Amino acid sequence: MVFILGIESSCDDTSAAISRNDVILSNITANQDIHRNFGGVVPELASRAHQQNIIPVIETALKTANISKKDISAVAFTKGPGLLGSLLVGISFAKAFALGAGIPILEVDHLQAHVLAHFINDGSPTWSPPGFPFLCLTVSGGHTQIVRVNDFFDMEIIGQTIDDAAGEAFDKSAKLMNMGYPGGPLIDQYAKEGNPDAFRFAKPNIPGLDFSFSGLKTSILYFLRDKLKEDKEFIENNRNDLCASVQSTIVSILIQKLLSASDMTGIKEIAIAGGVSANSSLRDELMNARDLYQWKVFIPKLEYSTDNAAMIAITGYLKYIRKDFGSQESTPYARSNF
Ligand code: KG4
Ligand code: ZN
Repeated sequence: MVFILGIESSCDDTSAAISRNDVILSNITANQDIHRNFGGVVPELASRAHQQNIIPVIETALKTANISKKDISAVAFTKGPGLLGSLLVGISFAKAFALGAGIPILEVDHLQAHVLAHFINDGSPTWSPPGFPFLCLTVSGGHTQIVRVNDFFDMEIIGQTIDDAAGEAFDKSAKLMNMGYPGGPLIDQYAKEGNPDAFRFAKPNIPGLDFSFSGLKTSILYFLRDKLKEDKEFIENNRNDLCASVQSTIVSILIQKLLSASDMTGIKEIAIAGGVSANSSLRDELMNARDLYQWKVFIPKLEYSTDNAAMIAITGYLKYIRKDFGSQESTPYARSNF
């Protein structure tokens, strides 16, 4: 039996999870509401909130899993990419805990972990993970990538955004419509009552498997500017339709590129990961594509879509059984380097 304590602190969520082999026993996250007042994550405040949250979150994770500190085999933590001050809180805690307990540490890449969340065993008799090679669309607040996953730790980025990430496209669109932060879940919610064909926004024309979302933001900005000249209440009067149309534009850009990636590689096992994979329309469209193109699709549970420590624990477990241990000299990185 291998018990891993996983710690995630790369952005504004402090999360801790306990795994027993490939099963998650607990997954506890403290969200930092403080950033809502600023319309985005304030790095300095995030580090401080991690410092306050980390002990109680870990204690709750241990208690929920009914595990004592002495049972932990190793500590896995997010090494990057992310906010350096935030990452340092998790790394420092992991090092100190492991040193005190005389156990190894495991360095985890946040983006690999989003992908490897698909290997969390949900305990049901029908559970089966993706088979290699598979494609994973990782869509979060900071990243948009199509990854060809050849093996657990052999991943190749075959397409990525050249400007904004898909999550940023949701968040920035929401900001233009005077909505709160983060905007993605709010757009998803309002879109449920709206018509996705009500308004048309420009889609980028980027060759290959790369993405671009900055043009969409400009298209929405000019569209709203013109409409607001005619009707000052245009946004309030059309919020549902606006959200549904913006969401459908973003989702169709993502699905189109996934289709091209599947065509180009011949791979039909398709997974999605990251915060935007919580989006209900993206999930629905992926199921439609599954039926149309005979794909085998993998959609993470909501709690494993947005940032969480369960994905850090499972990645840690996969490294532990390979004896791929980290060192006390480990330092964080801000940008992805896998
Ligand atoms: O993976 P994640 O939790 O954190 C990062 O690593 O960035 O992703 C956060 C992003 C935010 O941009 C948020 O607006 C978006 O995921 N998001 C959503 C939904 N839930 C979260 N976007 C669209 N629909 C959702 N339901
Ligand atoms: Zn993430």
